[in-house]
Amino acid sequence: MHPIRVDVGTPSRPYAITLGDGILDGLQQLLDEARAPSRRFVVSSPLVWRLHGARLSAAGLEEPILVPDGERHKQLPTVSRIYDALVRAHADRASTLVTFGGGVIGDMAGFAAATYLRGIALVHVPTTLLAQVDSAIGGKVGVNHPHGKNLLGAFHQPHAVVADLAVLGTLPRREFRAGLYEVVKYGMTSSAGLFDRIARDSAAIFARQPDVLAAIVAESCRIKAAVVAADEREAGPRRVLNFGHTAGHALEAVTKYRRFRHGEAVAYGMLVAAELAVMRGALAERDRAALADLIASLGPLPPIADLTTAQMIEAMQHDKKVVAGRLHYVLPTAVGATSIVDDVAPTELAKALKRTGFRK
Ligand SMILES: NC(=O)c1ccc[n+]([C@@H]2O[C@H](COP(=O)([O-])OP(=O)(O)OC[C@H]3O[C@@H](n4cnc5c(N)ncnc54)[C@H](O)[C@@H]3O)[C@@H](O)[C@H]2O)c1
Ligand SMILES: [Zn+2]
Repeated sequence: MHPIRVDVGTPSRPYAITLGDGILDGLQQLLDEARAPSRRFVVSSPLVWRLHGARLSAAGLEEPILVPDGERHKQLPTVSRIYDALVRAHADRASTLVTFGGGVIGDMAGFAAATYLRGIALVHVPTTLLAQVDSAIGGKVGVNHPHGKNLLGAFHQPHAVVADLAVLGTLPRREFRAGLYEVVKYGMTSSAGLFDRIARDSAAIFARQPDVLAAIVAESCRIKAAVVAADEREAGPRRVLNFGHTAGHALEAVTKYRRFRHGEAVAYGMLVAAELAVMRGALAERDRAALADLIASLGPLPPIADLTTAQMIEAMQHDKKVVAGRLHYVLPTAVGATSIVDDVAPTELAKALKRTGFRK
């Protein structure tokens, strides 16, 4: 399989995503082509480094900076450890920070790169499906505050993204599925072809066949790249990527980020949005059923029957997507198409939540 290249045309910095099976062997050349400054540091987690660090041994990188990568470590003190290591090594402006891990490592080390010396070069080498299709693209970096997720952050576009499908082989099945729900999101919002492909090829996808994975990862990257290029700072069109994320984020918050992987919460969020859309006559019931069937076919989700609609609505009022008191909601209008509304009433929301399986 030949590597696939997807260009991300963000106004502040255009860059390429290179995707392939086993392409980390050629990382050094990809870094050179991206003109990543020559002192290259890598930030990873102990687990990812143990599993895959050897793949980077020929890339000419400095000693790795290893930090813990659970969501609860996605905090300023961990970023501080990265700064400490950079200062100790006398990293200067002619340095590149390569992130090697899932979205947590990418966001944290990306934030360190955005702020160290007011910004040094960044290259993402994502190792989870979620990071390859989503978090490594678009330049959002940041960390959580004890009072809220991703409250501290910046936009810092990378010089390059290098996604090697081979590293996905060690990803636990649940993490893999969590990333797949974001792929379903791209299909439902932007590409009926991608949506159908997930359903059709699910056995090969779960077997992690490189050519089949490459097709869905590349298509996801193309969709995110196009949206990000059109709206780098999320002023408008980029909002479609929030499909499923209003109820999804609320679900993560009410369960204190413990019960769900992010993608699992988004899966429920997509179902809630689809119920809302059907109730409004914006989406055909058969399209909602197709989404529900696809999600169900990917495996079981953690239960929600103990959670109330009131808890969920309360959490949604705190969403970042509330602009001037109005909740912007991305509704599907067909498989592959959406519209954004800002007049969803709490009673309507309560009904959609109940139809999805939340308690009254
Ligand atoms: N910046 C963005 O635009 C953006 C978009 C979406 C999500 N995010 C952020 O991404 C984070 C979630 O990312 P994630 O789902 O990748 O989680 P993660 O980074 O926590 O990784 C999940 C788990 O998989 C392990 N892991 C990573 N690669 C592995 C591999 N190849 N084999 C085996 N195990 C591996 C990690 O050690 C970790 O335990 C969240 O913090 C979220 O806010 C950011
Ligand atoms: Zn998401």
